[in-house]
Amino acid sequence: MTKCATAGRIHVLALTVLLAACATPQSRAPLYDQFGKLEGLNAVVDGLVERIHANAQIAPLFANTDMARFHQLLVEYLCMTIGGPCTYTGEELVEVHTGLDITEAEFNSLVEDLIDVMQERNIPRAAQNELLDRLAPTRKDIIYQ
Ligand code: HEM
Repeated sequence: MTKCATAGRIHVLALTVLLAACATPQSRAPLYDQFGKLEGLNAVVDGLVERIHANAQIAPLFANTDMARFHQLLVEYLCMTIGGPCTYTGEELVEVHTGLDITEAEFNSLVEDLIDVMQERNIPRAAQNELLDRLAPTRKDIIYQ
């Protein structure tokens, strides 16, 4: 075998090892772990609550809300949604949001706040998208109720 062919084989091997290493670590971790478990979720919801208060488009909707209860229930809901060991103890989302008449724009605005917080917390992009995909079906229960 020539020197070049041997070098070529070594390169292929190195590439295979490298690709395998790239595919494994966080992408295969459970979604709940990728969010940093309960501690990470609490931090995400802390950040979201801060942003809701600072977001003039949606803050008024929360004027009469008990934010401690909202925080607790949202952590439970998100935890359950990403396969964590939590039970959501609140009411059905459709009931909770009935009477608020949340518009599509308001819905999107809150989701943008959520994305910003997840980004700030360095949640892997694929994990963010997985949560958003799982939340998407709730949209119909939340808007225009
Ligand atoms: C993205 C999906 C959403 C989920 C999973 C969700 C989840 C929740 C949960 C768990 C609660 C607490 C329930 C309770 O107090 O019993 C809640 C309350 C509330 N949500 Fe949402 N929510 C979503 C979207 C939105 C959006 C887009 C808005 C407005 C822009 C919104 C506005 C509110 C308000 C104002 C309350 C408090 C209601 C009250 O004080 O009675 N939610 N939501």
